[in-house]
Amino acid sequence: FQPQCLAGQRVLVTAGPTFEAIDPVRGISNHSSGKMGFAIARAAREAGAEVRLVAGPVHLPTPLGVRRTDVQSALQMQAAVQAELDWASVFVAAAAVADWRPAHSAEQKIKKDGSGQPPSLQFVENPDILAEAAASARARAGQLFCVGFAAESHDLQAQAEAKRRRKGVPLLVGNIGPATFGRDDNALLLLDAQGCKALPAGPKLHLARALVAEIAQRLGPA
Ligand code: C5P
Repeated sequence: FQPQCLAGQRVLVTAGPTFEAIDPVRGISNHSSGKMGFAIARAAREAGAEVRLVAGPVHLPTPLGVRRTDVQSALQMQAAVQAELDWASVFVAAAAVADWRPAHSAEQKIKKDGSGQPPSLQFVENPDILAEAAASARARAGQLFCVGFAAESHDLQAQAEAKRRRKGVPLLVGNIGPATFGRDDNALLLLDAQGCKALPAGPKLHLARALVAEIAQRLGPA
């Protein structure tokens, strides 16, 4: 780990789950704790970058020196990211963005109507925040380096490589092993155009520091 290996870089990180409202008191979400993304924000700051963090609903302290924006939904996360994309030189999408949101969020709490029939929910797909960033003019001009994450239940390497190509990102990070949600340790598989490399199991902060060093190696001079 080179100290200050990200000096001069501006790193934007998304972290945590999103929460998609069904009505004012209910919604759908997932078990992402945000720990990996927060660790990456901290490690990038320690490595000398300016860091901005867009966080879904999580219970974590803001890393020292990091500017944080809290959001709830994928659409809010998309807007917060778009507002920073011209600023950023690196985008690390560690958030577990909900793939779908209810097509309509009721303004008032949905009540049981006595019929015994549950309400039916319709979903629409959320925008792919990472794929949008990777397709942006700045990313295509080499001014924005995009890093994605993948949590797959099986066949991680093949699935993650397919995802890397589909999203159009130079570096994709696979979570090795099931259910890293909420835990303090993890193991990562890095995939780029050259191939793949495992970062052995360890605390998320150690992995975040190793990932930051890997990102720094792939960047041109700031
Ligand atoms: O497609 P999948 O959700 O598995 O992709 C995971 C990667 O894409 C993560 O880096 C995640 O932060 C990002 N993503 C996103 N917007 C979405 C869905 C995923 O930025 N709507």
